[in-house]
Amino acid sequence: MGKIYGIGVGPGDPELLTLKAKKILDSADIVAVPVKEEGEYSTALEIIRPVVDLDRKEIMEVVFRMHPDEEERKKCRQAACELLADELRKGKDIAMITLGDVSVYSTYMYVNDYLAAEGFETEIIPGIPSFCSGAARAQVALMEGNEALAIVPSARENAALKTAFDSFENIVVMKAGNSIGKLQQMMEERDIPLSHATVLSRVGMEDEYIGPLDTDREYSYFTTVIIKKEGK
Ligand SMILES: C[S@@+](CC[C@H](N)C(=O)[O-])C[C@H]1O[C@@H](n2cnc3c(N)ncnc32)[C@H](O)[C@@H]1O
Repeated sequence: MGKIYGIGVGPGDPELLTLKAKKILDSADIVAVPVKEEGEYSTALEIIRPVVDLDRKEIMEVVFRMHPDEEERKKCRQAACELLADELRKGKDIAMITLGDVSVYSTYMYVNDYLAAEGFETEIIPGIPSFCSGAARAQVALMEGNEALAIVPSARENAALKTAFDSFENIVVMKAGNSIGKLQQMMEERDIPLSHATVLSRVGMEDEYIGPLDTDREYSYFTTVIIKKEGK
């Protein structure tokens, strides 16, 4: 039986791939690439391309459709896991790549749980999460001393964001591309200076933007915001 690895490849810069991730990617028979539809561009695959010899690998797209119906999504995930299980039964080792770290909003955790429950050997190799990489690029601390940090998924989720503003010194807002205006408004309502927010967009990728909230800019899906209520 083969083994499946969930590999965090970091947020963009191939040099942030860990030595362990590279070693496993080099030795795996199959690199599995999660996509929402066949033929979709994969940022994770582009991250490893300069450092892993993909010509010698079988690349397997694994489709996880974002169907509005939860039952349909579940069926799709199960079908994807069964395809992976077929390859594991043939004795092939699979490295399934994921952007950033595997434990942060990644479909791989479902795959891991499913295949482990089926009796397959699984292992997770952590990657550098986008918000840690972004904090480093912006040269800000995510928390210091006894401070706490809340990580919330986009300003559209108002309740979580309000709790974060009320109870935490530091907030990381992920999936924030469409929420920059909303964040600005919430900070103004709470008298938090806008200079206390740093936008991290496409960190480690071409056209990276690290700077203040700027509602005149368009932001991609790969956008995260760090808000430090008390400032730097
Ligand atoms: C589905 S989550 C994946 C998170 C990823 N597993 C991690 O550890 O960062 C996608 C979100 O991660 C953040 N993200 C991922 N890559 C990024 C990058 N290069 N620059 C800024 N934010 C990024 C954005 O907030 C994006 O909406």
